[in-house]
Amino acid sequence: MTREQMVREGESRYISKVQKIPYYDMVFERGAGALLYDTEGNEYIDLLASAGSANTGNGNKEIAEAVYEQMKKICQITPAYVYTEKNVELAKKLTELTPGDFPKKVAFGLSGSDSIDGAIKFAKGYTKRNRLISFKGAYHGSTYGAISVSAINTNMRRKLDPLPDVTHFSYPACYACPYDKENTACNLECLNEIKTAFASYLPPEEVAAVFFEPIEGDAGIICPPKKYVQALYDLCQEHGILFVSDEIQQGFGRSGKWFAIEHFDVAPDLIVCGKSIGGGLPMGAIVGRAEVLDCLEPPAHLFTLAGNTTVCAAALKAIEITERDHLVEKAAEDGKYFLDKLKALQGKYDIVGDVRGLGFSIAVDFVDSQATMNPDRNAILKVCWDCVQNGVLITFLGKGSLRIQPPLIITREQIDTCVRVIENAIKKLIAGEIPDSVLSQIKGW
Ligand SMILES: Cc1ncc(COP(=O)(O)O)c(C=O)c1O
Repeated sequence: MTREQMVREGESRYISKVQKIPYYDMVFERGAGALLYDTEGNEYIDLLASAGSANTGNGNKEIAEAVYEQMKKICQITPAYVYTEKNVELAKKLTELTPGDFPKKVAFGLSGSDSIDGAIKFAKGYTKRNRLISFKGAYHGSTYGAISVSAINTNMRRKLDPLPDVTHFSYPACYACPYDKENTACNLECLNEIKTAFASYLPPEEVAAVFFEPIEGDAGIICPPKKYVQALYDLCQEHGILFVSDEIQQGFGRSGKWFAIEHFDVAPDLIVCGKSIGGGLPMGAIVGRAEVLDCLEPPAHLFTLAGNTTVCAAALKAIEITERDHLVEKAAEDGKYFLDKLKALQGKYDIVGDVRGLGFSIAVDFVDSQATMNPDRNAILKVCWDCVQNGVLITFLGKGSLRIQPPLIITREQIDTCVRVIENAIKKLIAGEIPDSVLSQIKGW
């Protein structure tokens, strides 16, 4: 049995199946920047960035050094009972980096999901209201509160009993408008759904918070129009509802701004962070209005390992690298470079549908034809499979979108290689050269 087979068998023998969305039968061993290497030494350009948690690159030696230096002194001394310097330093930095010209505080957690739960608690505690609003297609994580505000996959609800009083509305997905409107004819029908609910069955004075992904990531990198986000924010203000931006996937530079909500010029009451915040180590954080973050008493949202000294050292180093190497600006510029190259494919191939994105969060839809724009799941599976065979690690999202979210340090040369590999896969697909047999080898969501 090969080493890869042993790992795969071991996983299915010892690890709960609930923790795997099976994309590929691959075992990775190490990384270097935007590259990954499997156990056989094969090299891949990474367009997944560990589901958006490796913004500063794989195998980052500076972060490793910061972690080592901290661990040599002390790995963890719980900030729940005593004071530590690193978590104060990080909290201060987070209040400075996030939008909003008002006093802010931070509550640390261990993941994006538990920080979403925290935001639910703070919103309910502060407003003394119980109802929540979220969006169809949202993925906010898999703790109890987080599954309750999510609405992307029935596995996250089946056999469970999510929180009551969460209402999900249409996300403003203009490229596939749920109301079939052209941009010019749009009267913010999506927002009117909420207004109609407020007038008929959802008392706005009982709504604590709106949970909003500024780019709806797992639903297919859906970028909302600015006028919608601003109108949603105004509606929240009007009714004393807290606006919560889930930046777990898009934060820390991915969208070409530190936080994706900055594209829309609104300052959320709460920002929820996760994934890349910890430089690859587990961490979550809620950053927001000080009075909201101070509305609960300990230990209503407290974890022994939250604000862990070593993870804070990694997070501070990741932020330092992001600032020093201008990775946010790089994501904006090189993301546009990547997007433009992928948009060119749309003009050449009828099966390439919408291509959209901000910074290094990009989706390429595969459709049966541009006339019908029906998602083609088999096409996306085959394209992904062929890319992986040719050294580009890529997955898919939504109904049939390539997920392009590389580490922010990817080079232009690597981007050019990826576009070439994707285009070759499209050509092979059209020529019928990718066999149906690959469909059973790649599953995904
Ligand atoms: C937008 C968004 N929110 C929340 C989460 C949950 O984060 P985690 O899996 O780190 O708990 C994710 C994870 O994919 C996400 O993409």
